[in-house]
Amino acid sequence: MTATTNPRVRFTDLHPAQTDLAQAVLSGLARTPKRIEPKFFYDAQGSELFETICAQPEYYPPDAEREILETHSAEIAAALGSGCVLIEPGAGSAAKVRLFLDQLQPSAYVPLDISGDFLLQAAHDLAEDFPWLDIHAACIDFAHSLRLPEQLPETHKVAFFPGSSLGNFEPADALTFLQEVYTAVGPGGGLLIGIDIPKDQAILNAAYNDAAGVTAAFNKNLLTRIRNELDSDIDPEQFDHLAFYNTELNRIEMHLKSRRAQHVQINNQSFHFAPGETIHTECSYKYAPEPFQNMARQAGFQPRHTWLDRRGLFSVHYCSAPE
Ligand SMILES: C[S@@+](CC[C@H](N)C(=O)[O-])C[C@H]1O[C@@H](n2cnc3c(N)ncnc32)[C@H](O)[C@@H]1O
Repeated sequence: MTATTNPRVRFTDLHPAQTDLAQAVLSGLARTPKRIEPKFFYDAQGSELFETICAQPEYYPPDAEREILETHSAEIAAALGSGCVLIEPGAGSAAKVRLFLDQLQPSAYVPLDISGDFLLQAAHDLAEDFPWLDIHAACIDFAHSLRLPEQLPETHKVAFFPGSSLGNFEPADALTFLQEVYTAVGPGGGLLIGIDIPKDQAILNAAYNDAAGVTAAFNKNLLTRIRNELDSDIDPEQFDHLAFYNTELNRIEMHLKSRRAQHVQINNQSFHFAPGETIHTECSYKYAPEPFQNMARQAGFQPRHTWLDRRGLFSVHYCSAPE
C-alpha cells in the first residue's frame, strides 16, 4: 500500500508488470487476424483521451447513463442500501459515482483501475469534493482477477460497473467476469451496471467515428505506447482508425488498419502487414435488457430494476446477489 497525502485515500498498487504489454503485443500480432486487448489503451494519455471521447457530441453513452443515474439517484441509493462498500472496477475518472454518493453514503468507495496514476489523481479529486468518504483505490488488472484491497469495512458490498465496459469482453468472458463480481460481492451484495443497447447503426457508427477524431487518436495511442514502451519502429501515422457496427454480432469493432505493406520491428521480432490488414483492438458488444438480465441470472444474480434514458439508448440495471 502506498501512503498518499490525504489520510482518507489509501492506494494499493498491483500494477501489472510492463512485460504484460510486451507479451500481449508479441503474441497478439503473431495471431491471424492480429489482435490486441483494449485494456492496453489505458496509459495516462489513453485515460485522458477517453475523458475527451466522453465529451464528444456523437458519443451518446455518458450523457444517457448520467441522465439515468441523476434521475433515479434516490431509487438507486435505496436499492443499493446505505453503508455499503461500493466497488468500481474500471473507475477511470470516477465521474459517475459522484451523481449518487451523497444519497448513498457508502462506508467506503473502492475504485479499481489499470491506469494507476490517473486513478490516484481521480481518488484525490474525489476526496476533496467528498471529504467524509473513505477511499480504498487499487491499481489492478481486473481481467486477471478482481482482487480487492485489504481492510475493507465488514458490511455488504455492491459493485458499480458503468460505461458499458462489460461490452468490451467477449460474451463468454463477460459471463465469467459477472461470476467473479458475484463472488467478490458475496451473498447479500449487489451489482449496479450500465449496458449499451443495440440501436440504429447510424448512431452507433457516428459514436465511434467522432468528427473531431478523438476516438481515432485514442485507438492510435496503442501504437504510440508500443513505440514508446517497447523497442519498436512502429509508426502510428502508417495506420488508420477503423470502427464499424457488426450487425450479426451486435458489436462495434475497432481496428487499426495498415495504410500500406510494411514490416514493423518490436523487441527484435518482425511483423508483416499487408495493405489494409488490421489489428483488432476493441469490441463493444451491445445487449438489450432481456439478454443482459439472462446473463446476470446465469452468473447468480437476481435482476431487480432496469432503468432506461428517455431516448431509450442506454440501460442501467440493479441486480442483487441472494443471501
Ligand atoms: C471505457 S472506460 C470507462 C470509465 C468509467 N467507468 C466510465 O464509465 O466512464 C474503461 C475504464 O476501465 C479501465 N480498464 C480497462 N481494462 C481494465 C482492466 N483489465 N483492469 C482494470 N481496469 C481496466 C480503463 O483504464 C478505463 O478507466
